[in-house]
Amino acid sequence: MNAELNKSIPRHVAIIMDGNGRWAKKRGVPRIKGHQQGAEVVRTITQACKKAGIEYLTLYAFSTENWQRPKAEIDGLMKLLVKFLRTYESDMHKEKIRLRTIGQLTDFPPQVQAAVKRIIKATENYTCAQLILALSY
Ligand code: FPP
Repeated sequence: MNAELNKSIPRHVAIIMDGNGRWAKKRGVPRIKGHQQGAEVVRTITQACKKAGIEYLTLYAFSTENWQRPKAEIDGLMKLLVKFLRTYESDMHKEKIRLRTIGQLTDFPPQVQAAVKRIIKATENYTCAQLILALSY
């Protein structure tokens, strides 16, 4: 990459995951479809950041306020988070992306904690790009 161009690229980008519900409402589909779409976009964004040379991508994925949402929506989000981690893990190895978290991981169900911890450990030696999930922040 051109050195001049490189100077204009930030080292750290942070994104608040928002608008999933509005996306679903606009299309007349259940909210969970909006969350699924949001999770899909995360893969695209993570790869684009890596390609652009951005070192850190922080995703504000689940706030402490989000625990007040209906149980069915929370359960759907937890399943989605585990599915995302499982399916995205091989890409993280391919792209050498290190997973980290901020927030209170211990607030999450054991299945989520286990998947997150396992991938954090498995990717701990990757140094170029980091995906930082803010969970219960
Ligand atoms: C905000 O949309 C989004 C969330 C509360 C949850 C985002 C989390 C996931 C999609 C789980 C998977 C996580 C990753 C990192 C892949 P909203 O419902 O507040 O939408 P609105 O602003 O339109 O109401």
